[in-house]
Amino acid sequence: MSIFRTKDIDAMIGAHAAGEGLKKVLGAMDLVLLGIGAIIGTGIFVLTGTGALTAGPSLVLSFLLAGLACGFAALCYAEFASTIPVSGSIYTYAYSTLGELVAWIIGWDLILEYGLATSAVSVGWSGYCQSLLAGFGIKLPQILTAAPGAIPGVTTIANLPAALIMLAITFILSRGMRESAKLNNVMVAIKLSVVILFIAVGVWHVKPENWQPFMPFGTSGMMNAAAIVFFAFIGFDAVTSAAEEVKNPKRDLPIGIIGSLAACTVLYVIVSLIMTGIVPFQKFAGVDHPVSLALQYAGQNWVAGFIDLGAIIGMTTVILVMAYGQSRILFAMSRDGLLPKKLSSIHPRYDTPYFTTWTVGVVFSTIAALVPLNVLAELINIGTLAAFTLISIAVLILRKTRPDLPRGFRCPGAPVVPVLSAGMCLFLMLFLQAFTWLAFLIWMAAGLLVYFGYARRNSNLHPGN
Ligand code: ALA
Repeated sequence: MSIFRTKDIDAMIGAHAAGEGLKKVLGAMDLVLLGIGAIIGTGIFVLTGTGALTAGPSLVLSFLLAGLACGFAALCYAEFASTIPVSGSIYTYAYSTLGELVAWIIGWDLILEYGLATSAVSVGWSGYCQSLLAGFGIKLPQILTAAPGAIPGVTTIANLPAALIMLAITFILSRGMRESAKLNNVMVAIKLSVVILFIAVGVWHVKPENWQPFMPFGTSGMMNAAAIVFFAFIGFDAVTSAAEEVKNPKRDLPIGIIGSLAACTVLYVIVSLIMTGIVPFQKFAGVDHPVSLALQYAGQNWVAGFIDLGAIIGMTTVILVMAYGQSRILFAMSRDGLLPKKLSSIHPRYDTPYFTTWTVGVVFSTIAALVPLNVLAELINIGTLAAFTLISIAVLILRKTRPDLPRGFRCPGAPVVPVLSAGMCLFLMLFLQAFTWLAFLIWMAAGLLVYFGYARRNSNLHPGN
């Protein structure tokens, strides 16, 4: 059956062991920082506001729950990354284990994850940028500050700053901005500093009475918020995209994936406790910069200004990593023949996938301009949760089909942990809105049409190609 044909794992591992590909320079700590660079962004800086409105102070439990689901998925990821340490993503892993159709579905899901995340984080960036500019007395015309319908009762036509930052980053990427671990480390240090600054200043302004009632909307409110703030954890998987540049991938990739996720979970739990402790949760209605708002509420306007600046820098790194990841996935799918060859063309001078990078930039900057953040976040979450579910199952399949492959890291507690991972991802998906499900099903149906109408026949693995 052609839909189950797979890429040859041994050939991929062999090419890697023979030293082909990129220079191996990264260690475990670089990977943890790379992961944190991709993880901390709009989720914590913006969506905590929506989360607090949905769950009240029990938002902290929502973060713990979403973090746990990601933790199980991260263990599955880590096993794959240590077994097949080639660059790419779960699209590549799936292609070598579950076959072409599942790999295609995962690649198609990842467009929701990485592509739409660039739009969503650009929208978050825009909110903080406007808050910072307002601090200097600069106000943009309101009509150009948000997507249509994003602010109830206010006429807006487009989120111009969001589209512009996305295009600016596309320009940088298209010119051959290699992922520089050093630059990333500096930006991550700034981002971590502002999160820690928030904790250090905010903790003195917590009023425990704001944590009462703890669960104003019951368990379902807490679960709905978990399905939203799941977004805040997305990105730990981006560590795998550096696989080819890692000195000791079998040991360091699992450390990078699990370490970055664990560090962010601890920070998120503390930040959400402090935020809901400073501000009565109802006050987050309609706020797009809740973290700095909490400090303004506590009378710490100066510190709030620093938080704005740090959040802007922090979100810039997320957009960069996600846009890079998206163009790389499209590139891989095109190189495998599943998407038009033009998408894997390389610019003769800049040596980058120029056409793909600009396609990603133009499409997702338009979406950033026109679609509100909460709609985007739900779509991203459903696509990512679906991909995580599939990859958890894939771990079990690879253990059955290729027990002989050396695994640098084995997911502990298999088969229970992979099954729990898939189960929790599916469970979280149930708490997303009906509209999100509808959009997701339409997206997947479109994906199947493209696969059977184009990709299957043009695949490199198709006889005669
Ligand atoms: N986790 C990333 C963020 O919150 C996508 O911005």
